[in-house]
Amino acid sequence: MAEAKSSPASEPTRRDMLFLATGAMGAAGVVALAVPFVRTLAPNAQTIAAGAPIEVDLTPIPEGQGIKLFWRGKLIFVRSRTKAEIEEAQKVNLASLPDPQADSARVKPGKENWLVIYGSCTHLGCIPGGSAAGEVRGDYNGWFCPCHGSHYDTSGRIRKGPAPTNLPVPPYAFLSDTKIRIG
Ligand code: FES
Repeated sequence: MAEAKSSPASEPTRRDMLFLATGAMGAAGVVALAVPFVRTLAPNAQTIAAGAPIEVDLTPIPEGQGIKLFWRGKLIFVRSRTKAEIEEAQKVNLASLPDPQADSARVKPGKENWLVIYGSCTHLGCIPGGSAAGEVRGDYNGWFCPCHGSHYDTSGRIRKGPAPTNLPVPPYAFLSDTKIRIG
């Protein structure tokens, strides 16, 4: 018959070793946690990925150009619209739009030169071109999705092609004339 072996009191048992190991991990954990706690004052990459608001400095964006960035894992376009692009977006007969929406409902009052929209085609999710210099902007000088030929205007509204709806506007607010917070 097998007999359970007992260890001498002076020798650490396997369980003692486990406790020691856990204690060491715990101490390391406290040290490791202390640093991120201070850093939470500014959202880290993980927090941003989880959906924290992000601030975007608009100053590097030249008039008539745009940038692409990610928020909550989704692509966002930010474009600095020219006067002509704004006028083009405002003068459209809403009844002619597949997804009628006034330009004023898609921008912030007094900041009509900035357009902030999601950058995923509402047809099947391709990425429309038109943000960076040199990208094809389509028939309405906005964005063009080459996958199946959807044309968006300077307000990000669908004008031609299979996409059923406009490029949506994410939640955002101006913190100053040159900074927005998305989320
Ligand atoms: S995914 Fe853009 S047109 Fe089809």
